[in-house]
Amino acid sequence: MNYLELFNESYARIVLDPQRVERLVAVFYDRFLARSARIRELFSGSDMEAQRVMLRRGLLTVGTFVTTGLRATAQMRRLAQVHQELGLTPADYLEWTDALIEALAEVDPPLRPEVADAWRVALAPAIQFMQLPGSVPEPS
Ligand code: HEM
Repeated sequence: MNYLELFNESYARIVLDPQRVERLVAVFYDRFLARSARIRELFSGSDMEAQRVMLRRGLLTVGTFVTTGLRATAQMRRLAQVHQELGLTPADYLEWTDALIEALAEVDPPLRPEVADAWRVALAPAIQFMQLPGSVPEPS
């Protein structure tokens, strides 16, 4: 199996199970916020209940991006814009990915190392896209 197939299989098991996806985002934010004062500061003004709902949608947006041929959809552009306005660094995206992998290991165990790697490899184009200045349209 290649990385995209490994990712698809694991991703489908999560997103097709509403309880699992709900647990995933809840555990994710616990882990993510526990990682650093910087991350807690970024979310200090956020309604975390609303944020969990938005991340469920965001996971669908990035999952669709990577599984349907990397098209710059309106949702992906908006995700890029929101995150570029936050002034994030590549290290922030690494923390995000690490927290997601930790949450996956808790919510859908056992998480095999090659499946964790597959999530990293599969999400990389989405994370790259979110950081490209060209992903955000010029104001007209
Ligand atoms: C692929 C990676 C990521 C995905 C899928 C994602 C998903 C989302 C989504 C769907 C939203 C809501 C956007 C909206 O207003 O419509 C959001 C907002 C936000 N994200 Fe992310 N995110 C990612 C990476 C990150 C990283 C790396 C950080 C910081 C370290 C971060 C911090 C935030 C913050 C602070 C908000 C705004 C919260 C608010 O408006 O109260 N995100 N994210």
